[in-house]
Amino acid sequence: MPLIGIDLGTTNSVVAYRKKNGTVDVLCKKLSEKIIPSYASFLEKKRVFESFAKNKTSVHPTQTVYAVKQSHLRKFDDVQVQSDIRDKNYAYDIVDTCGGIAIEADCLSERKQFSPVQISAMFLKHLAELAEKIGSASGVVNTVPAYFNDAQRSLTREAAVIAGLDVLRIVNEPTAAALAYGIETGTGEEKNVLVFDLGGGTFYMTFLKLVPGSSVTSVEVVATGGDTHLGGEDVDTLLVQLLAMRFNEEQNCDITVNNKAMQKLRQAVSVEKHFLSDFEEITVRFDVVTGVAQDGTLLGGLSPTEKRSARKPQALYRERK
Ligand SMILES: Nc1ncnc2c1ncn2[C@@H]1O[C@H](COP(=O)(O)OP(=O)(O)OP(=O)(O)O)[C@@H](O)[C@H]1O
Ligand SMILES: [Mg+2]
Repeated sequence: MPLIGIDLGTTNSVVAYRKKNGTVDVLCKKLSEKIIPSYASFLEKKRVFESFAKNKTSVHPTQTVYAVKQSHLRKFDDVQVQSDIRDKNYAYDIVDTCGGIAIEADCLSERKQFSPVQISAMFLKHLAELAEKIGSASGVVNTVPAYFNDAQRSLTREAAVIAGLDVLRIVNEPTAAALAYGIETGTGEEKNVLVFDLGGGTFYMTFLKLVPGSSVTSVEVVATGGDTHLGGEDVDTLLVQLLAMRFNEEQNCDITVNNKAMQKLRQAVSVEKHFLSDFEEITVRFDVVTGVAQDGTLLGGLSPTEKRSARKPQALYRERK
C-alpha cells in the first residue's frame, strides 16, 4: 500500500510513490513518460485525460478543459482573470458565478458549468487511478505553490477529498523539489537553497532554509516571489498573438475568431517553442484556414501547411519587466 505524492500542475502533473524499501520513484506511464498533461476532454461517451485529451483541444475545443490551477478562488472581475479570458484563447468558457468563476464546457451534449475545484478533483482522481497499478494508495501528499494562501490550500485539500483521497499533507512545491533532488543538509549544518521554478502558469523563485533535526530535516520557506502570469503558457500566448497577427496581415484572414484554428496554432507553438532552447529562430507550421464565416466556422477546410517564423522570446520577457 504505497504512499503517493501528486504535483497537480497548470500544464502538467507528476505522480510519485514510496516503494517498499523506502525510496521514492516517479510513476512512469510508458517508458520514460513521467509528465502527465493536466487536460480532460468530455467525449461523447467517456471522459479522457492526459495527452489524449490535449490532442482533442483543436478537434473538440469546447469539450476540453485545462489550466484551472490558478482559477481557484479568483474573482470574475479580477484584472488578471479578465486579461486571461481576453488573451489566452481558452478552448472553454470562463463564466461569472455571482462574482466567482466557473468553467463552462460541453459535456455529453450538454453545456455544463464546473467549479475549478471540481475540475481539479477530476484530475486528482484520474492521477490516483493511474497510481493504482502499483497498488491502492494508503494516503496522498499534495503539493501546492509556496505562494498559495490558506484558502487556496484548503481548496486543494477539498479537491483531493472530492476525488476520494486521504490527504496526509500539503507540501510546498519548492520544498518537494529540494527534497526530490536530495538537497539534505548532510553536514549537520543549516543550508540555504534557492529553488527556481519556471512552470506552465508561473515563474517563481523560493528561498528555503533547511535545518537538520535529530531525525528529519525541517524546511522553512524564508521568502517566495515571482509572477503568476509569466510561465510557459504566457510565452505561448504571446507567440500565438504574434503569429495570428502576422497571418492576418499577410493573408487578410483573422483566425482569432475561430476556436479550432486558434487551438491548432497554440498546439503548434507550444511544441515548436521548445526548439528555441537550441536555435535562434524557429518555423511554426500550422494548418491554414482559407476563410472564416460570420459564425466562426471554417470555410474551405484546412489547406496544406504554411510556414511562419518566430524569434526567441527573450524580448517578450524583457517587455514584462
Ligand atoms: N525545452 C523547453 N523550452 C521552453 N519551454 C519549455 C521547455 N520544456 C517545457 N517547457 C514549458 O514548460 C511549461 C510546463 O512546465 P511545468 O510542467 O513545470 O509546468 P506546471 O508544473 O504544469 O505549471 P505550474 O508549476 O505553473 O503549475 C510549458 O509551458 C512548456 O511549454
Ligand atoms: Mg509546477
